[in-house]
Amino acid sequence: MVSLSISMVNLVLLWLSFLSLTSEAVPSYRFHICSNKTTFIPNSTYQSNLKDLLLSLSSNSTREIGFYNNTVGENPEISVYGLFLCRGDLTPDACQDCVSTATNEIVQQYCPVEKVAVIWYDGCMLRYSNRLIFSVMEDQPRKYLWNVLDITQPDRFLKLAQTTLSDLVPLAANASSGAKKFATKEVNFTVLQTMYSLVQCTPDLSSFDCDRCLREAITNVPTCCSGKQGARVMYPSCTIRYEVFPFYQIQAVAPPVPAPGPTPIPLLLPPPPGKSHISSLKIVAIVAPIIVSVVLFFMGYCFLIRRKASKTIQEENAANEISIVESLQFDFATIEAATNKFSDDNKLGEGGFGQVYKGILPNGQEIAVKRLSRSSRQGVGEFKNEIVLVAKLQHKNLVRLLGFCLEGEEKILVYEFVPNKSLDYFLYEPKRHGKLDWSKRYKIIGGIARGMLYLHEDSRLKIVHRDLKASNVLLDENMNPKISDFGMAKIFGVDQSQGNTSRVVGTFGYMSPEYVRYGRFSAKSDVYSFGILILVILSGKKNTSFYQSDGPADLLSFASKHWEDGTLLEFLDPTLGDSYSRNEVIRCLQIGLLCVQKNPVDRPRMASIDLMLNNYSITLPSPQNPAYLQTEQSMPLSINEASITEVYPR
Ligand SMILES: *[C@@H]1O[C@H](CO)[C@@H](O)[C@H](O)[C@H]1NC(C)=O
Ligand SMILES: *[C@@H]1O[C@H](CO)[C@@H](O)[C@H](O)[C@H]1NC(C)=O
Ligand SMILES: *[C@@H]1O[C@H](CO)[C@@H](O)[C@H](O)[C@H]1NC(C)=O
Ligand SMILES: *[C@@H]1O[C@H](CO)[C@@H](O)[C@H](O)[C@H]1NC(C)=O
Ligand SMILES: *[C@@H]1O[C@H](CO)[C@@H](O)[C@H](O)[C@H]1NC(C)=O
Ligand SMILES: *[C@@H]1O[C@H](CO)[C@@H](O)[C@H](O)[C@H]1NC(C)=O
Repeated sequence: MVSLSISMVNLVLLWLSFLSLTSEAVPSYRFHICSNKTTFIPNSTYQSNLKDLLLSLSSNSTREIGFYNNTVGENPEISVYGLFLCRGDLTPDACQDCVSTATNEIVQQYCPVEKVAVIWYDGCMLRYSNRLIFSVMEDQPRKYLWNVLDITQPDRFLKLAQTTLSDLVPLAANASSGAKKFATKEVNFTVLQTMYSLVQCTPDLSSFDCDRCLREAITNVPTCCSGKQGARVMYPSCTIRYEVFPFYQIQAVAPPVPAPGPTPIPLLLPPPPGKSHISSLKIVAIVAPIIVSVVLFFMGYCFLIRRKASKTIQEENAANEISIVESLQFDFATIEAATNKFSDDNKLGEGGFGQVYKGILPNGQEIAVKRLSRSSRQGVGEFKNEIVLVAKLQHKNLVRLLGFCLEGEEKILVYEFVPNKSLDYFLYEPKRHGKLDWSKRYKIIGGIARGMLYLHEDSRLKIVHRDLKASNVLLDENMNPKISDFGMAKIFGVDQSQGNTSRVVGTFGYMSPEYVRYGRFSAKSDVYSFGILILVILSGKKNTSFYQSDGPADLLSFASKHWEDGTLLEFLDPTLGDSYSRNEVIRCLQIGLLCVQKNPVDRPRMASIDLMLNNYSITLPSPQNPAYLQTEQSMPLSINEASITEVYPR
C-alpha cells in the first residue's frame, strides 16, 4: 500500500513534468523576414536543395554546440546555404524541437517560395540564402522587440542594461573556437527586480565580428526600447536581450551549482517511521484520503499555475508581436491606387526631396504622399528604423508621418494631409493676404515655436530640422501651422550625431552663417531659420527677394536697419493695415532679431523663445550683431528667385 501511495505521487510528478514539458515544447515563434524579390519555382532544383538542407539542419540539431551550417547543391549558382543557432542554454532536445519546428513552419507557413529567409523563435534562429552566409557578420535584416510594460527609473535601467550587455560582449566574443559564443548575467536592479541579460553570436563569426555585431546591436537599445522592461535586438549574426524575468535556464549557464532537488514533494513522501506493523487496511484508510487530497491540491495548484503562466505568455506575446515597422508599411499598390497612379491632377507640389501627391486611402482617409526622388544613403533596414523613430514624433504643430512604402527603387513617405497649403502660398501673394491677418500670423509664429520646441527638447529624439522655412510650414483648416519635412536628414542617413557635415541640407536665405560656411549645425541653426521665418511673416517678403538692386541686401539687414532707426512699423507688411497689436509686432521683431544673431551662443533656445512669446513680463535683451548675409559670401547667391538653391545629400 505504501508502494501504491508512492506510485500515485509518482503519477502526480509525472503529470507535473508533463505539464512543464508541454509548456516548453511549443517553440514560440517571434518573427520572420523573407523578401519576395528572389523566389524559386516550385519543384525546381533550388526547392529540392532547400528541402535537403532543412532536413540536414534538423537532423543535426542535437549537437552540443547548438549550431550547424550546411550547403546543399553541386552548382554554386543554385546552392542553398543555411544554418541554425539555438539559444545557448537550450538542451539538445529543446534545440531539436525548436529547429524542427522552424524548418517545417518556415516553408509551410511563412516563406514558401522565397530563396532568402530568416526566422526567429524564442529558442532558436534559422536562416538560409542563395549566397554564402557563413563567417560573415550580417546586421540586416534586423528586428527589435520590446516588452510593452514600462519600467520605473527608465534611465538607470537603460544604463544598467547597456553596461551589463557590454560586459557580456567579451565573454561571448572571446569564447574559444568550437564553443558557443554565448553569455548571460543577472544583476539586481531594485530589491525586487533582477535584470536578466543575454548576448549570443553564431559561432562561425570571428571574435572580432562577434564583438562588432553585439556592440552595434547594443547601440540600438536606447532608441528602440528605452523605458521598457525588456528588449531584444535580433540580427542574423547575433542577438541581445534583457528582461526582468528569467528567460533562460540559469542553471544551464552558470558554473555547476548543486541543484536543489524538487523539495516540496519529497516532504510528503517518507513513510511514517516505525509504522510498518500497522495493517494495510489502516494505511489505506489513513493514506488514501491524504493522497486524494494531495492529488486534488496539486491538480488545483497546477491548474492555477498554468493559467497564470499562459496568461503571462500571452501578455508577453502581445508585447512582442507589436511590430511597428509593419504597421507603418503601406504597399505600393495601395499608394498607387490612392494617388490615381501619381497622376498630375493629384500633384500637390514639388519639394526638395521629391514630388508630393494627394491621395485617398480606401477607408476615405486623405494622405499626402511624398515620392522621394533622391536615393537615400542608407540601406532599407536603416531607412525603416529612422522612419519608425520619426513617426513617433507627434505634436499638433508637426505634420504627422503615417508610414512609408518601399518597392524596388521607390521610396515613399506617407503623411497626414493638411488641407490648406503652405505658409508661403498665402504670404507672398497679396491677394491671399486677407486670409492672414495679424492675429493669424501671431498664432502661426507661436505654433511654429511650439513645434520646434518639441523637436528640439521635448521629444525623445531631439531633432534638428535643418530646413525650416515658409514652404515647410503647412496650415490646417483653422490656419494652425504644422511643420513638415522634419527628420529628413535622419531618414536620409545624414549623420546627426556630429554637429558637422560636409553635406549641407537647407535653403539659402534661411541657413545660418555657420551652417552655410562650415556645415556646422545645431539647434541654434534652426533658431536662426526661425528668426528669418518671423521676419518673413512680419514683412510678407521673401528673404531672397532682397538679393537685388542697391538698397539693403537682404531681409535681415532691412529689418535691423528699421529696428535701429526706430521705424520698425515700416518694416511691417503694408497689407496688414492698422489692424495689429503694436506690442506683439515689436516683440516678434525683437525675438526674430535675437534669433538671427551671428554668434549661435547669443541666440535664445526654443524654450526661451516660447516663453518670450507667451510671457510679456520677460524683458528681452537687445539684439546684437545680426548675421548679415552679404558678409557671408561663401557661396554664389542668385538674384533670381527660381534659383534658390537647395542642397541635399546625394
Ligand atoms: C511581393 O509582395 C508584394 C506585397 O506583398 C506584392 O505586391 C508583389 O507583387 C510581390 N512581388 C512578387 C515578385 O511576387
Ligand atoms: C511538383 O511535384 C509534385 C509531386 O511530384 C506534383 O504533384 C506537382 O504537381 C508539381 N508541381 C508543379 C508546379 O510542377
Ligand atoms: C548532419 O548533416 C550531415 C550533412 O552535413 C548529414 O550527412 C547527416 O546525416 C546529418 N545528420 C546527423 C545526425 O549527423
Ligand atoms: C560551415 O561554415 C564554415 C565557415 O564558418 C565553412 O568553412 C564550411 O564550409 C561550412 N560548412 C558547410 C557544409 O557549408
Ligand atoms: C576579449 O575580447 C575583447 C574584445 O571583445 C578584447 O579586447 C580582449 O582583449 C579579449 N580578452 C581576452 C582575455 O581574450
Ligand atoms: C542580489 O540581491 C540578492 C538578495 O537581495 C543577493 O543575495 C544577491 O547577492 C544580489 N546579487 C548581486 C549580483 O548583487
